[in-house]
Amino acid sequence: MAVFAVGRASLHVQHYSETVPDLRPAALSDLDAVTAICTLTGDDGSDATGLYDSPELLALHWASPHLTAAPELCTIVIDDDGVPAGYLVATTDTVAFEQWCERMWWPPLRARYPLQTPRRDRDQELVELLHSPDLTSASVTDAFPAHLHINLLPQVQGRGLGRALIDRLVDQLRERTVAGVHLGVSGTNTRAIAFYEHLGFSAIVVEDDGGLIMGRRLL
Ligand SMILES: CC(C)(COP(=O)(O)OP(=O)(O)OC[C@H]1O[C@@H](n2cnc3c(N)ncnc32)[C@H](O)[C@@H]1OP(=O)(O)O)[C@@H](O)C(=O)NCCC(=O)NCCS
Repeated sequence: MAVFAVGRASLHVQHYSETVPDLRPAALSDLDAVTAICTLTGDDGSDATGLYDSPELLALHWASPHLTAAPELCTIVIDDDGVPAGYLVATTDTVAFEQWCERMWWPPLRARYPLQTPRRDRDQELVELLHSPDLTSASVTDAFPAHLHINLLPQVQGRGLGRALIDRLVDQLRERTVAGVHLGVSGTNTRAIAFYEHLGFSAIVVEDDGGLIMGRRLL
């Protein structure tokens, strides 16, 4: 069902099944796979499974709402066996997305994850965040209205797919005349930071915890 594919040695668009791994447009049926990949890469690219009692909270913040709200902007990587092994999720308009989350996404999750339930500190931080989400500053969204999250399992890393995912999104955003795109990355995820810098992103905010917001202008 893939619409486009990316070869190992070349990023030219090719016909499906000529090369693997492939990229394909995401669908809502990918939510479980995206949740699993998010957990398996959720600790600065390493497996975060054991760090949380409810590791699905990671995807509920940083992947599932994007896929639910705008599947057309999201892309799945499938590995050599045809299994989802990576994704990019995104939104064109972060302000509108955060408003949508407040109306549609957070209310049922606030009921499912009450603040008062005893849980590990890391889980509690994510639960508190869904009850009181951090809204992105206008100083970021004015110049970089879109945002993205990208995560690939180790077996599909370093094969040009991260660049292909970003290139596809950049094309989609330019078609929609979106001025810029931003992302958040932990200050200790040095590999991802170097990847983003290589693809034209630069730090626009350094947060109190050392995390970076990086942006890339598109127009
Ligand atoms: C970070 C990540 C998205 C990069 O994707 P990738 O598929 O491994 O990267 P690619 O193979 O597409 O690399 C694209 C380009 O970036 C360069 N690059 C990749 N990592 C780099 C690094 N650490 N330093 C410098 N350049 C780097 C590559 O050399 C390549 O250059 P070229 O296209 O000019 O030849 C991927 O490794 C990943 O998902 N990691 C785990 C999860 C994670 O940390 N996600 C980010 C959370 S904010």
